[in-house]
Amino acid sequence: MVWVIDRDRRRLDEVHERYPGVEVGDDPTVALRDVDAVVVATPATTHFELASLALSAGKDVLIEKPMTTDIGEAEELCRLARSSGNVLMVSHLFLYASAVQWVRNYLWAGELGSVYHLTMVRNNLGPIRDDANAAWDLAAHDVSIANYWLRAEPLAVSAVGGRWINPAVEDAVFVTMRYPDNVLVNLHASWLSPRKVRDITVVGSRRMLILDDMNLTEPVRVYDKRVLDGAERKGVVDTFASFRASIREGDISIPRIILEEPLMTECAHFLECVERRKEPMTGGDQGTSVVRVLEAVERSLQDEGREAVVQGGRVGHSTG
Ligand SMILES: NC(=O)c1ccc[n+]([C@@H]2O[C@H](COP(=O)([O-])OP(=O)(O)OC[C@H]3O[C@@H](n4cnc5c(N)ncnc54)[C@H](O)[C@@H]3O)[C@@H](O)[C@H]2O)c1
Repeated sequence: MVWVIDRDRRRLDEVHERYPGVEVGDDPTVALRDVDAVVVATPATTHFELASLALSAGKDVLIEKPMTTDIGEAEELCRLARSSGNVLMVSHLFLYASAVQWVRNYLWAGELGSVYHLTMVRNNLGPIRDDANAAWDLAAHDVSIANYWLRAEPLAVSAVGGRWINPAVEDAVFVTMRYPDNVLVNLHASWLSPRKVRDITVVGSRRMLILDDMNLTEPVRVYDKRVLDGAERKGVVDTFASFRASIREGDISIPRIILEEPLMTECAHFLECVERRKEPMTGGDQGTSVVRVLEAVERSLQDEGREAVVQGGRVGHSTG
């Protein structure tokens, strides 16, 4: 790293004190003359301006999530990267977490059967933002994970949210997304909640699982539970005993997952893409897909929870 740009002088002084070998300044155009690659880690509403400046100068770019706050801007960044041949990567950090990767492999191997629905909870007290609501700031993570696991974009979303701290910004959102193949995803994202929760439940036709990202040693539990299909069921389910016979409750298992620091893995992936001119696992198209979903969430929030159609298509990820 050779340059850190920030418009806040105090932040620059802190950086300079901790890393005296790094140049600091407030003018990105000066730094752009010196560097091969740029990380845009400023508030969401400034991503487009800074990333387009870097791409236009022929630099590879890693942008924090959400990629932009406008679909037209996200598409323009993809176009710029394509025409200049530069790497464009979006920091959908959780896709670089080993537990998320483990679940992906398990799902894609068909171990859960057909996916019925996902429940995702991402709560904490703070940090409270004023330029992006809880959907753009927090649910962006869950949308990126759901799109990745399900290899698709939702067809439609409905969302309601509450504004308490800042009258213009939702502090909590409750979103339901309808994916292809009758898959439902429900997510709850809030920075106004007493306990830090990072929980995902996946219910499939063969098994179910829970990913608890706060559990640093055993993040995933697989439940060998399911409803028996008609052929396996014995007779009509009209008593408690026959109900018990209509569900299967097998073992609960905890896979061994070696946890690594996702940010480290992500940064290494960016550097590898820069050096080898590879397509990132979370490139411009995946970032754009998340923005498209979040725009639909925003439309539904404005429309008192009425379902909003996502004008997209299936989205794939490079294996990285
Ligand atoms: N991927 C993740 O898990 C994750 C986690 C936290 C934050 N983020 C993202 O990182 C970004 C920054 O979040 P943060 O919590 O660090 O915010 P922050 O407000 O703490 O820091 C942002 C910095 O950007 C500077 N800045 C603002 N506008 C600028 C401009 N036009 N030019 C130069 N500097 C400018 C500010 O002075 C500040 O120092 C956001 O997009 C956020 O969504 C991602």
